[in-house]
Amino acid sequence: MTTCEAMTASTCKEASDIIDLNWENIGFGLVPTDYMYIMKSSEDGTFAKGELQHFGPIELNPASGVLNYGQGLFEGLKAYRKEDGSILLFRPKENALRMRMGAERMCMPAPTIEQFMDAVKLTVLANKRWVPPIGKGSLYIRPLLMGSGAVLGVAPAPEYTFLIFVSPVGNYFKEGLAPINLIVENDFHRATPGGTGGVKTIGNYASVLKAQKLAKEKGYSDVLYLDSVHKKYLEEVSSCNIFVVKDKIISTPATKGTILPGITRKSIIDVARGLGYQVEERLVSVEELLDANEAFCTGTAVVVSPVGSVTYLGNRVEYGNRGVGAVSQQLYSALTRLQMGLSDDKMGWTVKL
Ligand code: COI
Repeated sequence: MTTCEAMTASTCKEASDIIDLNWENIGFGLVPTDYMYIMKSSEDGTFAKGELQHFGPIELNPASGVLNYGQGLFEGLKAYRKEDGSILLFRPKENALRMRMGAERMCMPAPTIEQFMDAVKLTVLANKRWVPPIGKGSLYIRPLLMGSGAVLGVAPAPEYTFLIFVSPVGNYFKEGLAPINLIVENDFHRATPGGTGGVKTIGNYASVLKAQKLAKEKGYSDVLYLDSVHKKYLEEVSSCNIFVVKDKIISTPATKGTILPGITRKSIIDVARGLGYQVEERLVSVEELLDANEAFCTGTAVVVSPVGSVTYLGNRVEYGNRGVGAVSQQLYSALTRLQMGLSDDKMGWTVKL
């Protein structure tokens, strides 16, 4: 095990062997690793120097803002092992920026971009042996920001904790890379205009559990939500963004406050444009989805996940003979090759550790 306590990202670089796990069946469940990172805010709302601690339970005041009023945010990003054994982070600065944006909405102070990046690098290096071999998955990095101070009335907490833990992961959906089956939800909504759908607050994910549970009981992989005003336009899936392909045009719902501005979403838009596709960010109606040639989801956890079928008001539409669509496959390959350092990173998206 590395011994990285009291070290900085640049000094915690001890070589360590890759842990022996069953990498073929890793899936997306928590595998506890060696270290987590913790940093608390000071009275003036700025964050003091954080530290690595052994991964494990944390102490939290029962009256904390996060436990009582959901004052919490999370991020998700990944580290990949390259062929030469070195490690690449994918667009960590985007997560730092998004956490700061979310913190503003949730009345929380946030770590600076530099603090966020240093903490991510340090945590990954301290858990280096848990980064899967190339092609076997990635190390999922979960930064959290929470109101850890005590409150009783509804108000911002007086103290905040920034925490990062990591877990090696494989495919998010049990289908692996095989197409997923979505049901379009007409009664439950994920977000409303003026709400918090556009930031990564923890409550957004609690609110989808019921619809997701009902969908899974009926055999669907997940739920696709519609806008709550017209019940007509696509929003997103419980944990990822949605894209629709019709001929050479790829469309995705514009992020106007109710949809999470996914970093994989943004990356796929650029990758697709670079490959010659026309990509449109706009209102996309459910009818367009039903008439599409192909559909796929994007997210840090799901990467690019092809959609095999969509069911809406009892009607089921299937795509690509239930195989992986050509566009989904092309975009998946282009993105993951970049993330694993197998293709030239012309955009400067990867950060080498
Ligand atoms: C991510 O892709 O990082 C997410 O936020 C999905 C998570 C809810 C599993």
